Amino acid sequence: MSPGGEPSRLLVRDLAQLVTPAGVEAPLRGPALGELEVIENAYLLCDSGRVAALGRMHELGALEGEVEELDGRGLSAIPGLVDCHTHACFAGDRAGEFELRAKGASYEELHAAGGGILATVEATRSAGEEGLRGAVRGHCEWMLHAGTTTFEAKSGYGLDRDTELASLRAIASEGGIPTWLGAHAVPPEFDDGDAYLDFALAEVLPEAAWIAEAADVFVEDGAFSAEQARRYLVACRDAGLALRLHGDQFTEQGAVPLAIELGARSVDHLEATGPDGIRMLGESNVVGVLLPLSALFLSRPMPPARALVEAGASIALATDFNPGSAFAESLPLACSLACTQLGLSPGEALAACTVNAAHVLGRADRIGRLAPGYQADIVLLDAPDWRYLAYHLGGETVAAVLEAGRLAWRR
Ligand code: NIG
Ligand code: FE
Repeated sequence: MSPGGEPSRLLVRDLAQLVTPAGVEAPLRGPALGELEVIENAYLLCDSGRVAALGRMHELGALEGEVEELDGRGLSAIPGLVDCHTHACFAGDRAGEFELRAKGASYEELHAAGGGILATVEATRSAGEEGLRGAVRGHCEWMLHAGTTTFEAKSGYGLDRDTELASLRAIASEGGIPTWLGAHAVPPEFDDGDAYLDFALAEVLPEAAWIAEAADVFVEDGAFSAEQARRYLVACRDAGLALRLHGDQFTEQGAVPLAIELGARSVDHLEATGPDGIRMLGESNVVGVLLPLSALFLSRPMPPARALVEAGASIALATDFNPGSAFAESLPLACSLACTQLGLSPGEALAACTVNAAHVLGRADRIGRLAPGYQADIVLLDAPDWRYLAYHLGGETVAAVLEAGRLAWRR
């Protein structure tokens, strides 16, 4: 019995399928990326929040003691999905900007005119910490209903000391993994990026480093140059943070070589990455995080996912959930795009948003697979075949979500 008096063991029985990325390595790359273990007519036993055992139903022996049961007939089990790139801490919306874009305005034009990210900065600064916590809670609920059991979220819509720190605290208090995106844009009270970075590194980093696990920077024309990003990232690394970069979203500005030089965990976006960048990533340990929902939302070219995989790069798949470039929290939808637009197989897509995403977050030893000892984060799909995850485009395929062996949500 758990301290609350409830049985701490849960048996999910008679599953149509149970599917997990095979092996124990992370990150997966090359042919191993698409290799899955598929068990038909399966069971999965959770004990004290972890996976205790799994296998075919006919192999399940008698269980002594109290065990709660969940009927898995007609359902397929996959690992809880891991969203390793979101901007879930924001207030307000950009529905008006969405309409302007529908009429032909470009994302870069809106950004240059002081809208875009800076419009969300204004709304986020006036929300207050309680308001931000409520916003993250709401967004996290949407993600859970789409099967996300672990999410990273970035600050970056405060860009002043109080709001950046409040954002990081709000993310952590709602169960997210906080990343300090202190270099997202230059806020209006600073004349240039260097002056803003002087402030951010001196006034925000010392405290941000206690709350965040990683730092991120937007390397782009109109945001930060590779030189500015190097200064920011080196200071963040010295303060103990893991490194991430937004790179090659619109133009190549040197984010890929910088990520490799500094040993970053990932470089994310890559819609504009050319053959040299693909080759360099293929020879490196930096994960390329692909965000097809953002490319779709902004009508931009898709990232060269297939070429990256063929070059030997490890890739992850994430939503980029945010109010401007990807107002979309669904990893199943990202998996559909991965298969229809990026040339990935369903198995590669699944590994990219489970084990490889867990690796980007430094947690591949605990989450991202269904195997004994891993945290019992499980998505039950209302489908006889797990591939409905990607196959059912925009479908409500997620039937239930278990977090640490407990039912967290059921449709
Ligand atoms: O990853 N490109 C930079 N940042 C976000 C978008 C932020 C926004 O538009 O509010 C991204 O796409
Ligand atoms: Fe992003």
